[in-house]
Amino acid sequence: MITIIGAGKVGSSAAFNILGRRISDVVLIDIAENLARGEALDMMQAAPAIEFDGKIEGTSDFSEMKDSELVIVTAGLARQPGMSRIDLLNKNAKIVKSVVKEVVKYAPDCMLMMVTNPVDVMTYVAYEESGFRRNRVFGMGNILDTLRFRSYIALELDVSRKDIRALVIGEHGDSMVPLVNFASVSGIPITTLLDKEQVEKVVNLTRGSGSDVIKLKGSTVYAPAAVIAIMADAVLRGRNRMMSVSTYLQGEYGFSDLSIGVPCVLGKNGVERILELKLDAEAKKAFEKSASIIKDAIAEIKKTV
Ligand code: NAI
Repeated sequence: MITIIGAGKVGSSAAFNILGRRISDVVLIDIAENLARGEALDMMQAAPAIEFDGKIEGTSDFSEMKDSELVIVTAGLARQPGMSRIDLLNKNAKIVKSVVKEVVKYAPDCMLMMVTNPVDVMTYVAYEESGFRRNRVFGMGNILDTLRFRSYIALELDVSRKDIRALVIGEHGDSMVPLVNFASVSGIPITTLLDKEQVEKVVNLTRGSGSDVIKLKGSTVYAPAAVIAIMADAVLRGRNRMMSVSTYLQGEYGFSDLSIGVPCVLGKNGVERILELKLDAEAKKAFEKSASIIKDAIAEIKKTV
């Protein structure tokens, strides 16, 4: 069973994707009880159309997550006008700490997927608060960045998105690192098909992609929800997918004591293993910058929360 904590836009849409792919029963938990119940009811009524016979429940009772195999945390605030980045950090860190306490109480053996932003920092907070082994606590961010990178490469080359393979690592934020030298179209390096300007264009579009949606409609929903379902499928079905997820580092890539997006194998034990790529000088420098931004945010939270 999968529990999603936070039945807002991303949480409820992720639930619907998970049901649609018939991955698992879903419990949706939110402090706004009517919202969680209403979303579940709405999905239950759609279930015959998507041929889903499992359980969909909405509640504000955290004990309903009992013995979930996977808990996904989408509870939290998005940045509001007048709210600083640090305010958002502190508010969401408090929410994450409180929900992780419930997770430890009711689903002590689960895999824990963080979505709440800033996701790398919240993954760190959840790792520390839960006391779980590091493989069990991971964050969703870079796979979404990677989907966006793939989409823009496909547009630039006018080829099917299916044939693009790529990776983005680092912070899920402005300092993300799209790995140009590892991106390919059916195995053909994109650097042989696109010139320098075109590569720069797709990288910049990728970096700005989340903000572009937020500027237009206030928040991102479909793409993150689809990615959450892909990750849930990888964990519940033990698929060992090679993906970039936010994970706690213990010396890998030269860093410790932070969570950041790196290529991992995602399977039934969460992060089954971390892959250490040999980065070119430019990517290495960009990754180090990304890590220092996350480290600063973690230090900020440690002062106050
Ligand atoms: P939303 O405002 O629609 O939903 C958030 C929900 O969390 C609300 O329904 C609220 O009642 C609930 N909530 C707040 N405190 C809670 C608590 N203590 N226990 C249970 N539920 C609680 O926001 P939306 O758009 O769904 O985004 C949720 C989070 O996901 C935000 O932090 C957003 O920035 C983040 N996000 C992360 C992405 C990623 O790639 N990692 C992509 C998109 C959003």
